[in-house]
Amino acid sequence: MNKQPIGIFDSGVGGTSIWKEIHTLLPHENTIYLADSANAPYGLKNKEAIVSLSVKNTEYLINNGCKLIVVACNTATTNAINYLRNTYDIPFIGIEPAIKPAALQTKTNTIGILATKGTLSSELFSKTSGLFASNIKVIERVGNGIVELIESGKLHSEDMRSLLSNYLKPMLEANIDYLVLGCTHYPYLIPILLELLPTNVKIIDSGEAVARQTKSILEKNRLLNLSNANSNNQFITNGNPKVLASLLNNHYKVEYLHF
Ligand code: DGL
Repeated sequence: MNKQPIGIFDSGVGGTSIWKEIHTLLPHENTIYLADSANAPYGLKNKEAIVSLSVKNTEYLINNGCKLIVVACNTATTNAINYLRNTYDIPFIGIEPAIKPAALQTKTNTIGILATKGTLSSELFSKTSGLFASNIKVIERVGNGIVELIESGKLHSEDMRSLLSNYLKPMLEANIDYLVLGCTHYPYLIPILLELLPTNVKIIDSGEAVARQTKSILEKNRLLNLSNANSNNQFITNGNPKVLASLLNNHYKVEYLHF
């Protein structure tokens, strides 16, 4: 059981930002990464559709022997993780925008959050936000178009730069000092964001926390792979394998599969 892979899925290539954190912390764990790029973006779909796509991805990973599943997508987590946990027997790790650390550390009492429509309009997000950020100002912004550009291989483009400066404008006018990245595609934007943001604005994402939580849940369930062998990491997409491979610096083989 312990040598069985960790399953990781996202609406597309963005969850590789989470896979990297997990692989760094747990290099001997075998993994299967599933990119549902043919159905991206999830962020514009309704809850029902997001749950049904999450079920499809989960069943593929369970049928391929995964011992635990990381939902490496804020949109799928905030809309579907309760359903998945109530339906399947294995542990699930999710990812949510890191509002809590930003709310605790802000000095200007104002934080910005960039996420998909599906995440920002979810019940889980409003619950977390009400719990941790009710005393501060939160400038929310839907990152329309960002996932689409990344999925089509246009991460480093003028279009991306101008989208981002538009989304940041109202946040900077409101004097944010923390920017929360609420989508797993967005860590890939950090080099561009660093150029656009003044130096006093810090960027927060939840990737490392998800990797630590994955390790802790594996330990608690006695599921850690204790072998010292090199891990086997499988990457599967129903979209363009080249885009996924490029985010992995072309170090891994990517398989195309219709799922
Ligand atoms: N990576 C997904 C997330 O974290 C992107 C969602 C989408 O496909 O719109 O929300």
